[in-house]
Amino acid sequence: MPKVFIETLGCAMNERDSELLFAELHSKEGYEKAQKPEEADLILINTCSVRERPISKLFSELGAFNLLKKPTAKIGVCGCTASHLGASIFRRAPYVDFVLGARNVSKITKAVSERRAVYIDTDNDDSEYPFANYRSSKYQALINISYGCDKQCAYCIVPHTRGKEVSIPPKLVLDEAKRAADSGAIEVVLLGQNVNGYGGRFASTSDPIGFSELLEKISLIDGLKRIRFQSPHPLHMDDRFLGVFADNPKVCKHMHMPLQSGSSRILKAMRRGYTKERFLELAARVREVASDATISTDIIVGFPNERDEDFEETLEVMKAVKFEQLFSFKFSPRPMTAAAKMENQIDDETASARLNVVQSLYKKRLYEAMNAQIGKTFEVFLEPSTDGTGLYGKAHNFYAMRILKGEVGTFARAKAIAIERGALKGEIIA
Ligand code: SAH
Ligand code: SF4
Ligand code: F3S
Repeated sequence: MPKVFIETLGCAMNERDSELLFAELHSKEGYEKAQKPEEADLILINTCSVRERPISKLFSELGAFNLLKKPTAKIGVCGCTASHLGASIFRRAPYVDFVLGARNVSKITKAVSERRAVYIDTDNDDSEYPFANYRSSKYQALINISYGCDKQCAYCIVPHTRGKEVSIPPKLVLDEAKRAADSGAIEVVLLGQNVNGYGGRFASTSDPIGFSELLEKISLIDGLKRIRFQSPHPLHMDDRFLGVFADNPKVCKHMHMPLQSGSSRILKAMRRGYTKERFLELAARVREVASDATISTDIIVGFPNERDEDFEETLEVMKAVKFEQLFSFKFSPRPMTAAAKMENQIDDETASARLNVVQSLYKKRLYEAMNAQIGKTFEVFLEPSTDGTGLYGKAHNFYAMRILKGEVGTFARAKAIAIERGALKGEIIA
């Protein structure tokens, strides 16, 4: 059997695309997974373009793979960077065999069999393509509910790498969720760049529904216990959605609310569609409707023209919302985006200093948040920990704890008892 080694960079949508790449190769050509690139007949790098750094990483990894691969093995560059660099990848790395952009996953077997194939059409529509079943986790199923993004955030390359937004028909999403439950998944993660904008456009469907209704329908599937989703957009957080989030017992109480900046002036330049005040109001609503909800966020520092007083407002929002989880990035000018051409780009030293401030404020907050969990009891789902030293108990909200003993693959009640090596430690209670 031929073997494929897949390296995945980027977000959960890329993780899912890597699963689908494997599903196609396995079901059509009998590929199995290679544990190491040296053993592989095919090496795929599924790339991310959202910031500059992953792109340099791509070319250094390609060079390394080329040195250690079997002489007959092929190398393919897939995903978002494939979309925007296209055939120019051959110039920088002539040993690459093909380029397969995000949204072109269904063409993987064609790309492998042809010479120097380049499939990067961002209008390609895989939204009704019958991919074979495959998932890498026994308990959790990643499920795409839409492709692409219709927003035009000024800093973001994703609309250029993943194209226009198209939703996957509800019947297909529901069938996939049912199949996942029937084969032992207890949790689904619904994926899209704007999940709560679901249903804006379908390629063809007789049953156009929105995200809230989709959540409700999925929650009726027997065997599924938890529904997560990423990423929602603050712009689509209406009362109906917040109601289902709060009241449906299967919907996990963890909301990702990407803030990006706390300054309404910068938010406007970013074209995010909400103000600082609206964001604060929404975050307060989330806490009000679901008292045990956790809120995570993304923050960009050093967006063009960001003054000290704008940055102070970002810190103010952080202090007011008290995010339980926070991802922060220095603004990275991306090709084809409006922000890359804006005046008053912020120097790296200032952006780095701001990033440090955000990260240390968050570190303090995270410690406080975890500390406040000690003594509390959670219903956790037990999975083997990645370091193999015990179990990992995941609560429905963002909290998770290391647990020494218990039965893998079951739910248990566990109490958080301490913080150890930066993580909660828990014990199962009768
Ligand atoms: N659709 C998702 C975001 C996908 S990109 C959403 O709107 O939430 C993930 C995160 O990367 C973004 O939330 C943003 O914080 C960050 N990001 C995107 N473009 C960036 C850029 N040019 N520089 C730095 N960070 C960026
Ligand atoms: Fe990018 Fe904005 Fe779309 Fe998110 S909503 S993928 S940040 S353009
Ligand atoms: Fe990266 Fe593409 Fe996801 S740019 S963040 S892999 S959508």
